[in-house]
Amino acid sequence: MFKGKKVAIIGGGKMGSIIARGLTTHKIIPANNIIITDIDTDRLKFLSSSLKLKVSRDNEKAVKCADIIILAVKPQNMAATLKEISTAVNKSKVIISIAAGITTGFIEKSLKKGVRIVRVMPNTPALAGEGAAAVTAGSNAKASDVKLTCAIFNAVGISVEVKEKLMDVVTGLSGSGPAYFFLIIEALIEAGFKNGLSRALAKKLAVQTMLGAARLCLGSDKEPAQLREMVTSPNGTTAAGLQVMEGKNVRDIIIATVEAATKRSKELAKGR
Ligand SMILES: NC(=O)c1ccc[n+]([C@@H]2O[C@H](COP(=O)([O-])OP(=O)(O)OC[C@H]3O[C@@H](n4cnc5c(N)ncnc54)[C@H](OP(=O)(O)O)[C@@H]3O)[C@@H](O)[C@H]2O)c1
Repeated sequence: MFKGKKVAIIGGGKMGSIIARGLTTHKIIPANNIIITDIDTDRLKFLSSSLKLKVSRDNEKAVKCADIIILAVKPQNMAATLKEISTAVNKSKVIISIAAGITTGFIEKSLKKGVRIVRVMPNTPALAGEGAAAVTAGSNAKASDVKLTCAIFNAVGISVEVKEKLMDVVTGLSGSGPAYFFLIIEALIEAGFKNGLSRALAKKLAVQTMLGAARLCLGSDKEPAQLREMVTSPNGTTAAGLQVMEGKNVRDIIIATVEAATKRSKELAKGR
């Protein structure tokens, strides 16, 4: 699928470099077929020495030479970036955008008629090869473009295909989701420390417990509720803990959290 294909990653920040690392580490695309651009020269020096990639400050030139273009600049820099590359794109290239809130329609309008756009909402656990990405096709993208995009993000985790109208809730759930879990880990560490554990030990136990619960969930055909019931004996320790969580409406808090992030994603898409 990727044989001989050249990739340009526009924006060598956190996500751009995570994707580049995933592609090379998993031998999806060799480093010498990837060019990464950024406006920061020091950043380019770092990317060149650490990832052994070709680097450039010239977006237009990078796009001209590539078959697959990954747009990884901040949403507020997208309009300017699209303007810079508009003469270099054509229907033979696949444009993959990971910018939160930027619709495929907006990108299509900013570029030449008929360009093939795929929009993705990835997340930062991609850095650990455990990302969760949602993918949606623009109006001119082929099924093979979506397949190719999924293969790129499968190199750094998993990918799913969704309708574009669901991208905001995906942003609220898995895009912003890692931060919710970090907050829960922080609270578990605090609880352990308050009750006599060292912070280091509490962290080790909390992180492994979250990982273990997630792996158990992934590998089981049981629903999360069934797994929870299996470890909750009547009048036992887990039941006592869960009673507090349910009493404080943790479920509602988490639902409201995802809904607030989803609403913010919709606002950002409207430029607010
Ligand atoms: N981080 C996440 O968790 C996450 C999750 C899902 C989606 N995303 C999306 O991924 C995209 C990148 O996010 P990020 O967190 O990786 O941001 P980031 O670390 O700020 O990376 C963006 C990079 O692009 C550079 N840049 C700005 N304008 C440019 C231009 N015209 N040409 C080339 N490079 C340019 C920036 O340089 P300067 O810093 O000097 O401006 C920066 O190094 C965003 O659109 C975001 O919505 C991020």
